[in-house]
Amino acid sequence: MAQFSSTFLDELIARSDLAELISRHVDLKQSGANLVGLCPFHNEKSPSFSVSVDKQMYYCFGCGKGGNAFRFLMEHDGYPFPEAVEFLAQKIGMPIPDSKPVNPREAARKKHGLALLDKVTGIFSRCLHAEENKKALNYFAQRKLSPAIIQKYQLGYAPAGYGFMKRCFAEDHNTLKSLEAIGVLIKNERGYADRFRERVIFPIRDKQGRVVGFGGRILDDGEPKYLNSPETEFYHKSHLLYGYSEHRESVRKHKMLVVVEGYMDVLAMASYDLDYAVAPLGTAITESQLRMILRLHDAPIFCFDGDNAGRKAAWRSIERMLPIIKSEYSPQFLYLPDGEDPDTLLQKEGQKAFENRLKNDARPMLETWIQGLKNIAGDGVEGRARMAKKADQMLSQVSDDYLRQAWQGEIEKVSEVKLSMQKQAQDLPKSRQYIARKPAQYLTVNPMKHDHFMAGLLQKPMRFQSLPEDAFDFFIDTHPIHPIYTRAFSLVGDNKSTELDIAAQLMREFPDNQHIARWVNLPTVEDDEFQLLLMDMHITYLNDLLGRSDGLAVKIQMNEELKTLRTQQKQLKKYLSDKESL
Ligand code: UTP
Ligand code: MN
Repeated sequence: MAQFSSTFLDELIARSDLAELISRHVDLKQSGANLVGLCPFHNEKSPSFSVSVDKQMYYCFGCGKGGNAFRFLMEHDGYPFPEAVEFLAQKIGMPIPDSKPVNPREAARKKHGLALLDKVTGIFSRCLHAEENKKALNYFAQRKLSPAIIQKYQLGYAPAGYGFMKRCFAEDHNTLKSLEAIGVLIKNERGYADRFRERVIFPIRDKQGRVVGFGGRILDDGEPKYLNSPETEFYHKSHLLYGYSEHRESVRKHKMLVVVEGYMDVLAMASYDLDYAVAPLGTAITESQLRMILRLHDAPIFCFDGDNAGRKAAWRSIERMLPIIKSEYSPQFLYLPDGEDPDTLLQKEGQKAFENRLKNDARPMLETWIQGLKNIAGDGVEGRARMAKKADQMLSQVSDDYLRQAWQGEIEKVSEVKLSMQKQAQDLPKSRQYIARKPAQYLTVNPMKHDHFMAGLLQKPMRFQSLPEDAFDFFIDTHPIHPIYTRAFSLVGDNKSTELDIAAQLMREFPDNQHIARWVNLPTVEDDEFQLLLMDMHITYLNDLLGRSDGLAVKIQMNEELKTLRTQQKQLKKYLSDKESL
């Protein structure tokens, strides 16, 4: 292990796709925050094997095996550690010292898949220009996409019928399977059939510019309007952006990045020489996509339709951005007139008018957030209170301290309410900063308190930062969790950036500890549940301490503290159960 640097190993884990690695052996399905499937390490009929995509760790609640990508390759595929490292590095194209291809077969398979995707792109593209498919080319013309744009973005057409793609290839078993694996063929009872039929095709590229999937639009008003590739080992819709690799250079050159909702918006902008837009792929924008966006440009403009759905989508983007936003970024939000998208607007008013909107009408994130809060909270004195409450809860997710404080000040000005985080910080010692948050279903006292407490911390390491001071001593020295727990504290303390993934780091430092993988794979511990657990842990701790201490003054003070905690706990429980029975 000594031969690889820890930063290298961390980055390798962060950039690897554990779900993809495992899904070659296990059929994984989304369940809550994680993916679940039948455990590949033991025989079972109902799935107890869980993969946390967020933390890049798996755990089987049946047999207790768990770990990160290295461990999976070692335990499942029998790689020695160095070879597991080399395998992963090669897979994602990360150079390592003295690396040689370890698994040439795997690398060849992947290369073959990508080559096939490229070939299919060419086939769709040629098909668009075939005489018998004139209507497809007409469709693009009608949507004002020039031949230059069609060529640059390699737009294509998938003809009608189910057997077109098969006819383009040798129909041997391996080829058909490969075409299925890249998402182009669907396997049914009667064999393999084309997924994309009678649709214009938009090839979707990954960061390196390799085609990894397709979007296909119907030519008329049928349903679904757009059909996209399924999740494959190449195509992960929540980690890709349409236009990203095509526009990366241009974004840097123009110092402009616009995030739009659809393929056609990206292309319409490009045909008006505004070749700096990207779009998510039909789903609400994800945190991973937001990270890509903010890394590419610090002041992206998010465009939304000015209608209700557009405002909701903007709000979702704001919510998702809170954990990753920094004071160095200045994202903007632009609402377009009701029912318009960049494509329709450009056709109506042309390039200059649209550019003026980008320049003059885009609003900073804070302003858009406050407007959204006002919409949700409503009018009057109570409206201001509701606004402060909601803002407080959202602010707790902002990890950039300075930005959080600055925004808090702004909200207090607008709502004329002191936010509770600040109020409690002033009025109470740090150990009592418990804030009742939104209600959740969790109400019962959990017998696996320690476990869930740790799960809550590792799932959201930010929570470490708001622990009361005496939390450091929650576990006695001899407790099996103690070394991991205290190490986590020091990692949080050491850490300058907020992005260090505590769980991944701990996993590397305690490679044989199965708890870490299990904690991150336990069902998501919601904020309310975590608050209750924290109070519970704190009360237990103080009780224990009380029993062991002498000195009347100390005892009185502890009793006071306990009393306060118990009251707060009772209030939170009551608040939650009231909310639940509503
Ligand atoms: P829209 O419905 O807003 O369509 O979907 P659009 O982009 O304006 O498309 P045109 O102009 O009618 O051709 C926005 C995006 O949502 C995804 C696509 O990525 C689309 O670009 N989408 C939409 C789907 O994935 N499936 C659908 O059925 C519809
Ligand atoms: Mn449109």
